[in-house]
Amino acid sequence: MKILGIETSCDETAAAVVEDGAKILSSQIASQVEIHARYGGIVPEVASRQHILAIIPIVEQAMAEAKVNWNGLDGIAATRGPGLAGSLLVGVSVAKAMALARGLPLIGVNHLEGHIYANWLNDRDSDVVPLFPLVCLIVSGGHSDLVLMRGHGDYVVLGRTRDDAAGEAFDKAARILGLGYPGGPAIERAAGGGSDSLGLPRAWMKGTNDFSFSGVKTALLRLVEGGKTSSSADAAASFQMAVIDVLVAKTVVVAREHGVRQILLAGGVASNKLLRNRLAQDSPLPVLIPAPILCTDNAAMIAACGYYRLQAGKISGLDMDVIPGLKLT
Ligand code: KG4
Ligand code: ZN
Repeated sequence: MKILGIETSCDETAAAVVEDGAKILSSQIASQVEIHARYGGIVPEVASRQHILAIIPIVEQAMAEAKVNWNGLDGIAATRGPGLAGSLLVGVSVAKAMALARGLPLIGVNHLEGHIYANWLNDRDSDVVPLFPLVCLIVSGGHSDLVLMRGHGDYVVLGRTRDDAAGEAFDKAARILGLGYPGGPAIERAAGGGSDSLGLPRAWMKGTNDFSFSGVKTALLRLVEGGKTSSSADAAASFQMAVIDVLVAKTVVVAREHGVRQILLAGGVASNKLLRNRLAQDSPLPVLIPAPILCTDNAAMIAACGYYRLQAGKISGLDMDVIPGLKLT
């Protein structure tokens, strides 16, 4: 079964064709990062206009790379939220038009669910597959969620951030350190030449599975403003370690408490090498992490999730609307 996936929730226009929820036949991503970098962050109006320009060529490229035509597809999955309203509208409208014109089922996908399903794509060195029950840590630009998954489409959010998301914290820290946008990769690069020497606080938030990252960001800002940081490499390394220490420790505790079989990592921040290594090292359970290119926004993960939703008979009507604040339930 071949699903065309479409992703336009933020600043990547992406289309992909995935077979049986696992095999990537194509995955095309048009990034707007250079356009937004000028402004130091995403400008929503600019993003939606760029999606309009890019979406049709990207879909055509994905179909061509996969060597499928419309008759070879079994469904069209598109991200319906969470994300920027104007950006989501472009992908959802195109998916609706194509589904109507070709008589194909339309499948609205939750972007966060998509991130989790990147773990079902068989793009790894090993052929390990996710096994339920599992705990997934989703860390992206907008979310830091600890989710218990007991089966396909069955989620219990056990913890979430009380303020900044992990990716957002990386982006803000990079701005403080003058490292540019997007912040995550910039911090990771800068941290390579530094050490965790600043003694930044860890927000353990005892008694809850929730996270908080605004305190460590403020602590970093105070040190920079007070001229107390010797090098931006040390500052980046210290910040990265402070965030990752908490993410890893809390994920392992929650996985133990719930007696799950595996831990999954997902979302843009999951492409961070230190996070990947530390979680794999500290976890007593098998840890599954998608290839870095499948952690950041892409459409293969949307197609994979769409496949499982279609299998469960969860088809959307052509009156489906975008939901910018869509939750994982
Ligand atoms: O999942 P994603 O591509 O988009 C959202 O759904 O938000 O995540 C983007 C976030 C950004 O905040 C970015 O700074 C962060 O992921 N990120 C990273 C790395 N690569 C991307 N954070 C830390 N280390 C990285 N290597
Ligand atoms: Zn994302």
